[in-house]
Amino acid sequence: MKNLSVIFPIAASIAAFVLVLLALLAGQNPGFMEDYDVISFNTSALGKNLVLNAAKDDEPTPTGGGFCSDLPGFLGKGCATATAAIGSIESAIVSEVNDIANDIADHLSAELGIHQFYSLHALSICEGSFSPNATANGATRNVTRCIKGATEGYNISAIIDHQLQIGPFELGIDDLGFDDELQSAMDTLNSAIKAFVILLSISVALTGLSLLTSIAGFIRYTRPVLIVNVVIASLAFIMLLACSLVITIGARKAATEVTEKGDDIGLYATAGSKYTAITWAAVGLMFVTFAYWLWQVIRFKNGKTDLHRQTKRSPRDSEEAGAEKPNLHGIRFSKGRRSRR
Ligand SMILES: *[C@@H]1O[C@H](CO)[C@@H](O)[C@H](O)[C@H]1NC(C)=O
Ligand SMILES: *[C@@H]1O[C@H](CO)[C@@H](O)[C@H](O)[C@H]1NC(C)=O
Ligand SMILES: *[C@@H]1O[C@H](CO)[C@@H](O)[C@H](O)[C@H]1NC(C)=O
Ligand SMILES: *[C@@H]1O[C@H](CO)[C@@H](O)[C@H](O)[C@H]1NC(C)=O
Repeated sequence: MKNLSVIFPIAASIAAFVLVLLALLAGQNPGFMEDYDVISFNTSALGKNLVLNAAKDDEPTPTGGGFCSDLPGFLGKGCATATAAIGSIESAIVSEVNDIANDIADHLSAELGIHQFYSLHALSICEGSFSPNATANGATRNVTRCIKGATEGYNISAIIDHQLQIGPFELGIDDLGFDDELQSAMDTLNSAIKAFVILLSISVALTGLSLLTSIAGFIRYTRPVLIVNVVIASLAFIMLLACSLVITIGARKAATEVTEKGDDIGLYATAGSKYTAITWAAVGLMFVTFAYWLWQVIRFKNGKTDLHRQTKRSPRDSEEAGAEKPNLHGIRFSKGRRSRR
């Protein structure tokens, strides 16, 4: 009994397979599905605390040479460059500190030698700058480079730390006020992403397998094939569900904690919503596939009985018709059939 409705699980499996494959490969090359990040860090204002603290200290004597001269040597240079871009620093009084902060956001990261954003994908970390600039409304990401996370690790603070050290001021991430609490939030994220990538890889294999067994179910509609389909589809569904839960909860928790603790030093994180949308869509599609095959198994049982009755009735009817003649074999055969059922 070939049923055209089998198109549904095949289509759902193809779609789920493509989605999880894309989820795995997003961000593999600079700009490829850049919006589909797990979490992204806006570091355009990282280090603003150093500049702002200096600006506050400057408040009592706004005319005293400007706040850049009060900055520790390593930042004074960067500050001067940043503020030079916004004009005279005599007018930069504390009431305008927020404006200064915004303008700093566009220049500070470059001064420090880091990038304006770091986006974490399943297999890579991409970095780059905002276009047209960090503070513009609807700024888009201009990816400069992607680092393979699977081989080089997902520790974004280590990457930033390294770039700061080779930067013009030879700072470390600790100099910016990056504390243990913040690092522990980052480390939790690292663990979550590693677990996620393993689960996601298994999900890619299982959804691919489910596609193959769904096609097999179309070609050979037998009970064992149907049961294999149910098992594979349910495993794929459970794996994808675990995947989506880990990444949805992990990324959101990390983003909240990092933003909470990083606000002072100008570090912000956002969990990627487009990314979780595709993983949850895959979860839904695998559920459809699983439900379809489960339904087929249940139906197959009944269907077989119906089929059995129908196909066996006609020979038996003829046998019974034949049994009206004194034919012992025919009667025995039909009794045997009956008792077997
Ligand atoms: C992206 O950055 C590169 C240099 O890093 C620059 O040449 C290019 O114009 C930028 N693209 C956009 C759209 O801003
Ligand atoms: C990045 O952070 C800065 C500083 O808080 C903010 O002004 C800017 O709007 C953010 N940019 C993006 C694209 O999120
Ligand atoms: C950032 O870009 C916006 C839109 O292009 C522009 O209005 C704004 O002046 C820019 N800010 C800086 C500091 O260049
Ligand atoms: C990540 O890098 C930071 C800074 O180099 C370091 O303190 C931290 O221990 C690293 N975390 C892991 C899990 O390696």
